[in-house]
Amino acid sequence: MTTRQSLLVFGATGQTGQHFTRLALAAGHHVRAVARTPEKLQAADDELEVVRGSIGDDLDLDALLDGVDGVVMMVGDAAAQRERLVNTEFVRSLVPAMRRSRTRRFLYQAGGLSAAPDKRLSPVLRLVRSTIARGYIGQHADNEAVMRYLDREARDVEWMVHRAGIGSDGPSKGELHRSSTSMSIGTFVDCAAYNLRTLLDDSAVHTCDGSTYRAPR
Ligand SMILES: NC(=O)c1ccc[n+]([C@@H]2O[C@H](COP(=O)([O-])OP(=O)(O)OC[C@H]3O[C@@H](n4cnc5c(N)ncnc54)[C@H](OP(=O)(O)O)[C@@H]3O)[C@@H](O)[C@H]2O)c1
Repeated sequence: MTTRQSLLVFGATGQTGQHFTRLALAAGHHVRAVARTPEKLQAADDELEVVRGSIGDDLDLDALLDGVDGVVMMVGDAAAQRERLVNTEFVRSLVPAMRRSRTRRFLYQAGGLSAAPDKRLSPVLRLVRSTIARGYIGQHADNEAVMRYLDREARDVEWMVHRAGIGSDGPSKGELHRSSTSMSIGTFVDCAAYNLRTLLDDSAVHTCDGSTYRAPR
């Protein structure tokens, strides 16, 4: 991918997405954000374009993807995802539209309590998921269905999944690194910075990794 990117962002008003949008604009990228409530995005920036919409709407994806280099999705709605795999349904329409528009790269933020395809969570994470995080069970199922779909049916697209472990909206605790074996409880700003770096990282293509503050050896 070239230096200045035109990015289509879903979830730009969320806890990770707000940081992501600010960082992407600061890095000189163009952001086209699809938001249910555009008023939540307060940045006045020539490079920020906000389109009102929901992933549950009949969005004109071909128009949204026009001129876009990469798509970033940091979307969650725990109540809706308890009822239906809303993110999966959307990604299943997004990917064909990306193929039509030849948009190659896609970063999807899932959670560390969602297992990567054909992998099992550790016993500790399984316990957390079934106890203190059980309210998010639909979100985990949806994130896992997205990962399975990408892995099995969309390997022609340069996707990457960040299985983020997020604990707070505090200040940066350092730089997160991609890891298939360990995971840190990060802050939203660090996860957002990780997403922006990872989107541009060819070696992250087709991975469903977590992120850790531990520097790689
Ligand atoms: N929060 C955590 O601790 C945590 C930890 C690990 C992983 N994750 C994962 O990271 C992702 C994002 O989490 P987050 O905490 O950053 O997000 P968040 O603060 O919960 O915000 C969710 C974002 O999704 C948007 N959204 C929800 N439904 C939508 C729809 N139908 N159409 C368009 N946009 C919609 C929201 O828009 P509105 O402003 O309109 O509501 C908001 O921008 C989720 O998949 C979650 O599983 C979160």
